[in-house]
Amino acid sequence: MHTFKELVADFGERFSVRHFPQTPASLYEPGEYFLSWGGKRIRPVMCLMGNELFNAISPDAYQVATAIELFHNFTLIHDDIMDEAPLRRGMETVHMKYGANTALLTGDVMMIQAYDYLNRIHVQYLHRILQLFNKTAREVCEGQQLDIDFETMPDVSLEAYIEMISLKTSVLLAASLEMGAILGGAGEGNCRHIYEFGKNLGIAFQIQDDYLDAFGDPEKFGKEVGGDIRQNKKTFLLLYALETANPAQKKSLQNLMQQHSADKVQKVVSIFKDCNVDQWAKELKEKYLQTALGHLTAIAVIGVRKKPLEELADFLIQREF
Ligand code: IPE
Ligand code: IPE
Ligand code: MG
Ligand code: MG
Ligand code: MG
Repeated sequence: MHTFKELVADFGERFSVRHFPQTPASLYEPGEYFLSWGGKRIRPVMCLMGNELFNAISPDAYQVATAIELFHNFTLIHDDIMDEAPLRRGMETVHMKYGANTALLTGDVMMIQAYDYLNRIHVQYLHRILQLFNKTAREVCEGQQLDIDFETMPDVSLEAYIEMISLKTSVLLAASLEMGAILGGAGEGNCRHIYEFGKNLGIAFQIQDDYLDAFGDPEKFGKEVGGDIRQNKKTFLLLYALETANPAQKKSLQNLMQQHSADKVQKVVSIFKDCNVDQWAKELKEKYLQTALGHLTAIAVIGVRKKPLEELADFLIQREF
């Protein structure tokens, strides 16, 4: 068994090879540039962990983990265009540095490269893995579209928000674990529980992401703090504030959402604070964490093998970047 840290190091080393041809450099250099910044490598490590929960890590699991990390990076490049984000991982985003047209193509070709890695696994698993991968990829697109639709919708329910973040974020974490489990020979019940563990953990992970977007330390966060507020993203922070604020605060939140003023972020953050969103964030994360841990317990494998996954859960929820 390997710890979370060991798997991050192991995967990071294997992944730090060139993934693209040399020419045209105008297409492939931006991709290499983006990948060289790293990232937390959560999803590929989840694939390896899902695999190691049931068996020794197989070469196929590394291929799928690589495909997943490339797919994830593709979604980030396109997400930064959609969110008009200037910064990621402490660096200038691809579309800011190379223009939106190149960023679109760099993302596209990265996704295609991901399928090339998938295509290297044993044929006995290919059909099942592809089916789950494609279903997940479709759901991510659905979640990303809902995220954009919600920007201009005045009333979004907490339920709709949870559904949106499940689709855009948590299904990929869930599928990463399940793909590893499938390759490790896990049975149907175990696959279902590991998927649900990942899905609920993924919801808590995106809740933390949304929290950090407003309250993160810019030095550690690596992304622009307040980007979600600027874009009127319907995060749980905003939904909760709109629900609990006094009439004056509510009016001022609604006014701020019509503006692009320089102090918009600072004013919204201060209303968030007045509404005690901190406490709410903790409760919401805790709720999904507990549901996730329930599914982890239900997986029919001896407890010591689950340790890396417990470690991972802690990290994802406490993270500051
Ligand atoms: C960012 O994912 C996108 C979200 C779903 C929140 P990560 O926070 O895993 O990004 P990196 O890969 O570590 O940069
Ligand atoms: C992104 O959600 C989810 C995907 C990339 C599919 P966010 O827009 O919150 O992610 P960050 O904060 O830019 O990483
Ligand atoms: Mg974004
Ligand atoms: Mg986004
Ligand atoms: Mg975010």
